Amino acid sequence: MPLVRDASGQLKFGGASLQELVAGLGTPTYVYDLDAIASGARELDEAFDGGPHLIAYAVKANTAGRVIRTLAAQGCGADVVSGPELRVALACGMAPERIVYSGVAKTDDEIDYAIAVGGGGIAAVQVESLEEIARVEARALASRPSGRKVQVSVRVNPSLDLDGLTHVNIATGHDAAKFGVPRADATGALRLVEGSPHLRLVGVAVHVGSQFTSTAPYLEAASMLFDLIRAGRGDGRLRALAFVDTGGGFGVDYTGEQPNPVRPADFVRAVRAEQQRAGAGDLSLTVEPGRSLVAPHGVLLARVIQTKVTETARWLMIDAGMNDLLRPALYQAKHRVVALEAPVDAARAVSWRVVGPVCESSDDFGEHRLNDAPPRAVALLDAGAYGYTMASSYNGRQLPVEAFVSGGRVVAHTVRPDVEGWVAERARA
Ligand code: LLP
Repeated sequence: MPLVRDASGQLKFGGASLQELVAGLGTPTYVYDLDAIASGARELDEAFDGGPHLIAYAVKANTAGRVIRTLAAQGCGADVVSGPELRVALACGMAPERIVYSGVAKTDDEIDYAIAVGGGGIAAVQVESLEEIARVEARALASRPSGRKVQVSVRVNPSLDLDGLTHVNIATGHDAAKFGVPRADATGALRLVEGSPHLRLVGVAVHVGSQFTSTAPYLEAASMLFDLIRAGRGDGRLRALAFVDTGGGFGVDYTGEQPNPVRPADFVRAVRAEQQRAGAGDLSLTVEPGRSLVAPHGVLLARVIQTKVTETARWLMIDAGMNDLLRPALYQAKHRVVALEAPVDAARAVSWRVVGPVCESSDDFGEHRLNDAPPRAVALLDAGAYGYTMASSYNGRQLPVEAFVSGGRVVAHTVRPDVEGWVAERARA
């Protein structure tokens, strides 16, 4: 049950009253609908039509334990990019053999942990450079004297032109990005891993970027991988290959107005068809969605502190800022803003410039049509991904609270950090 306004005008999210949440927990507060997260994961799972696969949830999108456990319960594994993310995924019940680890500069400690955990290590350390292959090999030698091989997957940079296809800050599969082994070096990298007595090449991977609203760039990157696989197998190589990982990046419709938004399952169906055509249907298909599994199922609640009406704008100043939700400042992203108390009355709606209290001009959530009588509290929509995980305590602001809804009620929430603690810690530093 998504966001609905009931007959009495109450805004409900996952069946829970948002006004009651504001009254009970204060603001800013993130609210996540665990049931909707679970059903989104099930829908994505069905798109694999029973074929071998792994949905490796990109934990960076939302690291809340209840969210990770909800996805683990639906059979998801994880894509992690740091030691702490790996540890939180494990702590939330994800099995090591269902976790892949990406990242351009893993430390030795992080590599050691990933290859030792659970006795056999994780599904794959995804190497992103020729230099990293040598480093993982050295760690394998140091920490696995028994001769057991470390499972490695090579993340290739598909070297695409992604201009205009997503925001420049979240495009990764192009030549100017630090991510992945350059396409020109890919065959060499695969040979290097295969030739190592300490490594086993179990996967090839790509992650072209984030927030794609068409499947075309995703498929182009995937085809590049399938070509590599075909060529390698044609030469009698890639015998131990177990999976192909086509990454995350499934976009969500932040406007709520796209007539036929492309769904996560559409990406999976399209890439599966490509995989079959390429004769790689025997390999397990791993995908790494983050945003699409959680973004639509989270809202950020804020109260209105005051308005400010000038000749140039009607400012609606709320108590959530860029420290709570960084996406507008960093990617010029626009999250819809909905008043909690009353629906928009088209006859009385005016344009409000919604801003936070942080001392930065980019602390700005953009123009939104809301009633001329300002609301007391608002919800910023589609805030379940890259919201809390990118939050900071800039300007001495405390991290927001997170509340979890299931079965129409709040089943858990975190506690608002203590301001005194921040003051004391900063004063001591
Ligand atoms: N796999 C890898 C290796 C990644 O780096 C990422 C995201 C994902 C998977 C998941 O991508 P998704 O399905 O969520 O698009 N903070 C930005 C997004 C940064 C994405 C970074 N990598 C935002 O708020 O838009």
